[in-house]
Amino acid sequence: MIFKTKNLTLRPWVENDAECLYHFAKNPNVGPIAGWPPHQSIEDSLNIIKTVFSKRETYAIVNDDIPIGCVGFLFHPDTNHWWGNGACELGYWIAEEYWGNGYAAEASKALISHAFNDLDISIIYATYKVGNVKSKRVLEKLGFKYYTDMVNEDYRHEYFKEVAMKLEK
Ligand SMILES: CC(C)(COP(=O)(O)OP(=O)(O)OC[C@H]1O[C@@H](n2cnc3c(N)ncnc32)[C@H](O)[C@@H]1OP(=O)(O)O)[C@@H](O)C(=O)NCCC(=O)NCCS
Repeated sequence: MIFKTKNLTLRPWVENDAECLYHFAKNPNVGPIAGWPPHQSIEDSLNIIKTVFSKRETYAIVNDDIPIGCVGFLFHPDTNHWWGNGACELGYWIAEEYWGNGYAAEASKALISHAFNDLDISIIYATYKVGNVKSKRVLEKLGFKYYTDMVNEDYRHEYFKEVAMKLEK
Protein backbone atom coordinates (compact mmCIF):
# COMPACT_ATOMS: atom_id res chain seq x y z
CA MET A 1 0.00 0.00 0.00
CA ILE A 2 0.96 3.64 -0.42
CA PHE A 3 -0.15 6.45 1.90
CA LYS A 4 0.08 10.17 1.24
CA THR A 5 0.07 12.82 3.96
CA LYS A 6 0.56 16.58 3.73
CA ASN A 7 4.36 16.37 3.36
CA LEU A 8 5.13 12.68 3.01
CA THR A 9 4.56 9.54 1.02
CA LEU A 10 4.75 6.17 2.79
CA ARG A 11 5.63 3.37 0.40
CA PRO A 12 7.40 -0.01 0.56
CA TRP A 13 11.19 0.04 0.57
CA VAL A 14 12.86 -0.87 -2.73
CA GLU A 15 16.38 -2.11 -3.38
CA ASN A 16 17.26 1.19 -5.11
CA ASP A 17 16.91 2.93 -1.74
CA ALA A 18 20.04 1.22 -0.40
CA GLU A 19 22.49 4.06 -1.08
CA CYS A 20 20.21 6.66 0.45
CA LEU A 21 19.43 4.42 3.39
CA TYR A 22 23.12 3.90 4.08
CA HIS A 23 23.76 7.66 3.93
CA PHE A 24 21.18 8.31 6.68
CA ALA A 25 21.42 5.10 8.73
CA LYS A 26 25.20 5.11 9.20
CA ASN A 27 24.63 8.08 11.56
CA PRO A 28 25.29 6.89 15.15
CA ASN A 29 22.67 9.38 16.44
CA VAL A 30 19.86 7.44 14.79
CA GLY A 31 20.07 3.65 15.19
CA PRO A 32 21.54 2.94 18.63
CA ILE A 33 18.94 4.95 20.56
CA ALA A 34 16.28 2.96 18.71
CA GLY A 35 18.04 -0.35 19.42
CA TRP A 36 19.82 -1.10 16.12
CA PRO A 37 23.43 -0.63 15.00
CA PRO A 38 24.53 2.08 12.53
CA HIS A 39 24.67 0.63 9.01
CA GLN A 40 28.19 -0.33 7.94
CA SER A 41 27.94 -0.24 4.13
CA ILE A 42 25.53 0.03 1.19
CA GLU A 43 25.46 -3.79 1.13
CA ASP A 44 24.47 -3.80 4.79
CA SER A 45 21.61 -1.38 4.02
CA LEU A 46 20.54 -3.47 1.02
CA ASN A 47 20.42 -6.54 3.23
CA ILE A 48 18.23 -4.69 5.76
CA ILE A 49 15.88 -3.66 2.92
CA LYS A 50 15.61 -7.28 1.80
CA THR A 51 14.98 -8.65 5.30
CA VAL A 52 13.79 -6.33 8.11
CA PHE A 53 12.21 -3.71 5.82
CA SER A 54 10.46 -6.25 3.60
CA LYS A 55 8.20 -7.39 6.43
CA ARG A 56 4.53 -6.49 6.31
CA GLU A 57 3.46 -2.95 7.24
CA THR A 58 6.95 -1.47 7.05
CA TYR A 59 7.25 1.72 4.97
CA ALA A 60 9.84 4.16 3.71
CA ILE A 61 8.96 7.73 4.69
CA VAL A 62 9.55 9.70 1.49
CA ASN A 63 9.91 13.48 1.25
CA ASP A 64 10.60 15.06 -2.15
CA ASP A 65 11.40 11.60 -3.56
CA ILE A 66 14.02 10.94 -0.86
CA PRO A 67 13.49 8.08 1.63
CA ILE A 68 14.22 9.98 4.87
CA GLY A 69 13.09 7.46 7.44
CA CYS A 70 11.10 4.39 8.27
CA VAL A 71 7.80 3.73 10.01
CA GLY A 72 6.02 0.48 10.59
CA PHE A 73 4.38 -2.02 12.84
CA LEU A 74 5.88 -5.17 14.26
CA PHE A 75 3.61 -8.14 14.81
CA HIS A 76 4.16 -11.20 16.99
CA PRO A 77 6.67 -12.97 16.87
CA ASP A 78 8.80 -10.04 15.60
CA THR A 79 7.83 -7.67 18.42
CA ASN A 80 10.24 -6.72 21.20
CA HIS A 81 7.76 -7.98 23.81
CA TRP A 82 4.60 -10.07 23.83
CA TRP A 83 1.76 -7.54 23.84
CA GLY A 84 -1.26 -9.86 23.59
CA ASN A 85 -3.76 -10.59 20.85
CA GLY A 86 -5.00 -7.77 18.60
CA ALA A 87 -1.88 -5.72 19.34
CA CYS A 88 1.11 -4.51 17.36
CA GLU A 89 4.18 -2.39 18.06
CA LEU A 90 4.87 0.95 16.36
CA GLY A 91 8.43 1.89 15.41
CA TYR A 92 9.94 4.82 13.49
CA TRP A 93 13.07 6.81 12.80
CA ILE A 94 13.82 9.93 10.78
CA ALA A 95 17.16 10.96 9.27
CA GLU A 96 18.80 13.59 11.50
CA GLU A 97 18.82 16.19 8.69
CA TYR A 98 15.00 16.11 8.81
CA TRP A 99 14.36 16.16 12.57
CA GLY A 100 12.06 18.80 14.02
CA ASN A 101 9.47 18.92 11.23
CA GLY A 102 6.91 16.69 12.92
CA TYR A 103 7.47 14.01 10.26
CA ALA A 104 7.60 11.04 12.67
CA ALA A 105 4.16 11.89 14.04
CA GLU A 106 2.76 12.77 10.59
CA ALA A 107 3.83 9.40 9.19
CA SER A 108 2.77 7.43 12.28
CA LYS A 109 -0.67 9.05 12.32
CA ALA A 110 -1.43 7.76 8.83
CA LEU A 111 -0.35 4.26 9.76
CA ILE A 112 -2.27 4.26 13.03
CA SER A 113 -5.51 5.07 11.15
CA HIS A 114 -4.69 2.23 8.77
CA ALA A 115 -4.16 -0.20 11.68
CA PHE A 116 -7.40 0.67 13.44
CA ASN A 117 -9.50 0.90 10.25
CA ASP A 118 -8.11 -1.82 7.99
CA LEU A 119 -6.21 -4.27 10.20
CA ASP A 120 -7.56 -6.33 13.08
CA ILE A 121 -5.76 -4.16 15.63
CA SER A 122 -7.38 -2.76 18.79
CA ILE A 123 -4.30 -1.55 20.65
CA ILE A 124 -0.88 -0.26 19.60
CA TYR A 125 2.18 -0.26 21.84
CA ALA A 126 5.44 1.61 21.41
CA THR A 127 8.56 1.80 23.54
CA TYR A 128 11.34 4.34 23.92
CA LYS A 129 14.66 4.08 25.69
CA VAL A 130 14.65 6.04 28.98
CA GLY A 131 16.06 9.47 28.08
CA ASN A 132 14.84 9.46 24.46
CA VAL A 133 12.77 12.59 25.01
CA LYS A 134 12.26 13.18 21.29
CA SER A 135 10.55 9.83 20.83
CA LYS A 136 8.54 10.31 24.02
CA ARG A 137 7.25 13.63 22.58
CA VAL A 138 6.27 11.97 19.31
CA LEU A 139 4.20 9.38 21.19
CA GLU A 140 2.58 12.01 23.41
CA LYS A 141 1.63 14.05 20.34
CA LEU A 142 0.02 10.92 18.89
CA GLY A 143 -2.07 10.43 22.04
CA PHE A 144 -0.17 7.47 23.50
CA LYS A 145 -0.43 7.02 27.30
CA TYR A 146 2.07 5.54 29.75
CA TYR A 147 1.73 1.76 30.06
CA THR A 148 4.70 0.37 31.99
CA ASP A 149 8.46 0.43 32.57
CA MET A 150 10.36 -2.40 30.91
CA VAL A 151 13.85 -3.79 30.40
CA ASN A 152 15.14 -4.77 26.95
CA GLU A 153 18.40 -6.08 25.50
CA ASP A 154 20.11 -4.24 22.63
CA TYR A 155 22.18 -5.47 19.69
CA ARG A 156 25.32 -5.37 21.89
CA HIS A 157 23.53 -7.69 24.36
CA GLU A 158 23.40 -4.87 26.89
CA TYR A 159 20.28 -4.38 29.00
CA PHE A 160 18.58 -0.99 28.97
CA LYS A 161 15.49 0.53 30.57
CA GLU A 162 12.62 1.56 28.37
CA VAL A 163 9.11 2.92 28.75
CA ALA A 164 6.14 1.33 27.01
CA MET A 165 3.25 3.54 25.90
CA LYS A 166 -0.12 2.41 24.51
CA LEU A 167 -2.85 3.76 22.24
CA GLU A 168 -6.28 2.13 22.24
CA LYS A 169 -8.64 2.17 19.25
C1 LIG B 1 12.48 10.44 17.61
C2 LIG B 1 12.41 10.93 16.16
C3 LIG B 1 11.77 9.85 15.30
C4 LIG B 1 11.56 12.20 16.14
O1 LIG B 1 11.33 12.56 14.76
P1 LIG B 1 10.91 14.02 14.31
O2 LIG B 1 10.24 13.89 13.00
O3 LIG B 1 12.06 14.95 14.44
O4 LIG B 1 9.83 14.38 15.44
P2 LIG B 1 9.22 15.82 15.76
O5 LIG B 1 9.58 16.81 14.72
O6 LIG B 1 7.79 15.60 16.09
O7 LIG B 1 9.99 16.21 17.10
C5 LIG B 1 9.73 15.52 18.32
C6 LIG B 1 10.46 16.24 19.45
O8 LIG B 1 11.87 16.10 19.26
C7 LIG B 1 12.54 17.29 19.69
N1 LIG B 1 13.37 17.71 18.57
C8 LIG B 1 13.04 17.74 17.27
N2 LIG B 1 14.08 18.09 16.52
C9 LIG B 1 15.11 18.29 17.36
C10 LIG B 1 16.44 18.66 17.18
N3 LIG B 1 16.94 18.90 15.95
N4 LIG B 1 17.24 18.75 18.27
C11 LIG B 1 16.74 18.52 19.50
N5 LIG B 1 15.45 18.14 19.73
C12 LIG B 1 14.65 18.04 18.67
C13 LIG B 1 11.49 18.28 20.12
O9 LIG B 1 11.35 18.19 21.52
C14 LIG B 1 10.21 17.75 19.47
O10 LIG B 1 9.07 17.97 20.26
P3 LIG B 1 8.14 19.28 19.95
O11 LIG B 1 7.49 19.04 18.61
O12 LIG B 1 7.18 19.29 21.06
O13 LIG B 1 9.07 20.47 19.91
C15 LIG B 1 13.83 11.27 15.60
O14 LIG B 1 14.45 12.17 16.48
C16 LIG B 1 14.70 10.02 15.43
O15 LIG B 1 14.63 9.33 14.45
N6 LIG B 1 15.54 9.75 16.45
C17 LIG B 1 16.47 8.59 16.40
C18 LIG B 1 15.73 7.25 16.33
C19 LIG B 1 14.67 7.10 17.38
O16 LIG B 1 14.78 7.58 18.49
N7 LIG B 1 13.58 6.40 17.01
C20 LIG B 1 12.53 6.11 17.94
C21 LIG B 1 12.89 4.89 18.71
S1 LIG B 1 11.78 4.65 20.06
